[in-house]
Amino acid sequence: MTPQEKLHSWFLLNQRDLPFRKKKQAYSIWVSEVMLQQTRVAAMLPLYENFMTRFPTLEDLARSTEEEVLSAWKGLGYYTRARNVRKAAIYLVQNFNGSFPKNLEEVLKIPGIGPYTARAILSIAYDLPHAVLDGNVKRVLSRLFVYEKNILGSSADKELQVLADKFLNLKFPGDHNQAMMELGATVCLPENPKCLLCPLQSDCRGLAENLLDKIPLRIKDEKKLKLVGHFLWWEKGDEILLIQEKRPRFLKGMFVLPYYFEGELPSEEYQSAETIQNLSNRKSLTKLSKSFSHTITHHKFQFWIHRESLSEKEADHLVSVMRKEVECKWVKKENLENEFPSSLAAKVKKIIS
Ligand code: ADE
Repeated sequence: MTPQEKLHSWFLLNQRDLPFRKKKQAYSIWVSEVMLQQTRVAAMLPLYENFMTRFPTLEDLARSTEEEVLSAWKGLGYYTRARNVRKAAIYLVQNFNGSFPKNLEEVLKIPGIGPYTARAILSIAYDLPHAVLDGNVKRVLSRLFVYEKNILGSSADKELQVLADKFLNLKFPGDHNQAMMELGATVCLPENPKCLLCPLQSDCRGLAENLLDKIPLRIKDEKKLKLVGHFLWWEKGDEILLIQEKRPRFLKGMFVLPYYFEGELPSEEYQSAETIQNLSNRKSLTKLSKSFSHTITHHKFQFWIHRESLSEKEADHLVSVMRKEVECKWVKKENLENEFPSSLAAKVKKIIS
C-alpha cells in the first residue's frame, strides 16, 4: 500500500463522526470550515447545528439581515467572519445562481474566502485535486518529509504547499485533506505524538531520524529587529534632496532620502548624522498621516514621511548646514527611483503622490 492508501484506510476507520461530513455539500462544508478556523470542533459543533437549522440553504443565508447572522454566530467570536459569510452568500446568489463555482480562481474571489477555505471546499465537496495547508497539516508534512526550516518563516507556506500537492491522493482529495487534518489533530500531536497509532509510522522520516521533538520548528517574527524610521522629503520645485552618509550606514553608502530612526538603536550603524536629526525638528516639516512597513533580512521597519517645500534660499541654507556632515545632491522627482535604487524609494513616492 502507498502511504496515501494507508492514510485513506485509516481515515475511513477512524474519522470522527461529524455532522458536516454527512453530506458532500459545498454550502455546509464552507460554513463548517469557516467556523473551524478559529474554533475547536467540540466548541463549534452546537453552534454549527444551530446555524444550519436557522439558515438551511445558501439562499436562506443570502436573504437574512446582518443582525440575524451575527446573532446566530454568537459564541464563535471573530464576527468579521459572520459578516463575510453573509456577503459571500449574497455574492453567490447574484453571480452563480446560488451554487459554488468549481474553479479555484473563482472561489478565491468570493468575499472572505482565502486559499485554505477555497481548497477545502473544492476538495471536500467536489473531490477536486487541491491540497490544503493548515497548522495540523503543516506539522504532519514537516515531520513526514523532514522539513527542518522554520514553518513560520516567509518561504515555508510555499514550500510546504509543494509537499502537500505532491503528497495529495488524487483519487480521494477530499478524504485525503480531512485525513491529514484529522491525523494532526488526533495522532501527530505537537507534543508526545502517538506514533504507535499512526498509519504513516513506517513512512515518517522524522520518526526514523528521531527528530519529532525538533520538527516543526516554530520561530515567531519577533526575532526581527523592529525599528521606527522617518524619511525627510525636502523638495525645491521639481527637485528633491538626497544625501549620502560619509560613514557606511545601514543603507550601505548609497544616496538616500535623509532618514533617522527613533528610540534606542541596536548599534551605531543605525545612527544618522547629527545634522539630520537636528534638522528633523524644523517646524515647517509636516508629518504625513500614512506610514508604510518594510521588511528586509532580520529587520522590520515602519517608516513615516515628513515633507517640506523649500524656497531657493531655504534650500541653500539647509544644504550648507548639511554639507559639513554628509554629501548632498538635488535630483528630479521622476528620477528618484534611479538615484535612490531601493524599493523604499517607490514606497515613499507612492505615499507622497
Ligand atoms: N479542521 C478544519 N477542518 C477540518 C476537517 N474538515 N476535518 C478535520 N479537521 C478539520
